[in-house]
Amino acid sequence: MKHDLLGLKELSADQIKHILDTAASMKEVVKSPNKKTPHLQGKTVVTLFYENSTRTRLSFELAAKYMSANAANISSSGSSVAKGETLIDTAETINAMGTDILVMRHGMSGAPHLLSPLVSAAVVNAGDGMNEHPTQALLDMLTIKEHKGHIEGLKVAIVGDVYHSRVVRSNIYGLTKLGAEVSVGGPATLMPMGIEELGVKVFDNVQEAIVDADIVMGLRIQLERQKKGLFPSTREYFRFFGIDEQRLRLAKPDALVMHPGPVNRGVELSTSVIDGERSVITDQVTSGVAVRMAVMYLLSRGGF
Ligand code: CP
Repeated sequence: MKHDLLGLKELSADQIKHILDTAASMKEVVKSPNKKTPHLQGKTVVTLFYENSTRTRLSFELAAKYMSANAANISSSGSSVAKGETLIDTAETINAMGTDILVMRHGMSGAPHLLSPLVSAAVVNAGDGMNEHPTQALLDMLTIKEHKGHIEGLKVAIVGDVYHSRVVRSNIYGLTKLGAEVSVGGPATLMPMGIEELGVKVFDNVQEAIVDADIVMGLRIQLERQKKGLFPSTREYFRFFGIDEQRLRLAKPDALVMHPGPVNRGVELSTSVIDGERSVITDQVTSGVAVRMAVMYLLSRGGF
């Protein structure tokens, strides 16, 4: 039976911990001068991206190459998708070429779940619409664990465009399973109905969400998913909801600043906060390669 990573909603706390422990070892490889292991020798990894990406796509490709896999990328522009080929036909074509792991990003929530039963390759969700981005949350949790030593009992504030964010959903599933207390904050127009049912505290402002937080995680304003203006301007957004030095003082003195990237500088976070000593945004990127190595390695060995 093949195994996939479609979301963190489906994983247990023990499975998440197993991935994080494996990723911690993989991070040593990423930081070492010799980044070549035999973990995926003879395997083929294809990334299929229908939406733009820098971090996720490149880190999956590098992770596959570091583990000696054959790695190839395909995107919607420049492929036969642009000629009208359907998602299912495209995936079945990639599968027929001997692909072992199919990593996919798609604007439609549930797209990887749709493909999973149709292909023999293990499917890894690299972001589906507004649903989940499981490897992002895993890399966030790895980064938190490495800097704080644990996740249980930490107060995590996730602030910004909660409505459109797949990152926030995966983080809520993962962090609450590992015992963190999660708050979300942002404009009421960017807060989905019923999010409190996922076990988080909800605020229509940033200040209350980040009081005494151990982790302050900004979310990108996803203008590409907004059909109508949900806030007056990015300048006003920063004034009322952006994280600057003053707002950050509401969090614990040793609070970490995180962001999944790409960051809109001066919109979600001030430049001084992004580049400040509490920021671990660059380390999140390194964790991303390690987590993707761990996920693909474990999938190739029968799952989590
Ligand atoms: N965080 C994230 O998914 O970034 P990319 O869109 O650059 O992959």
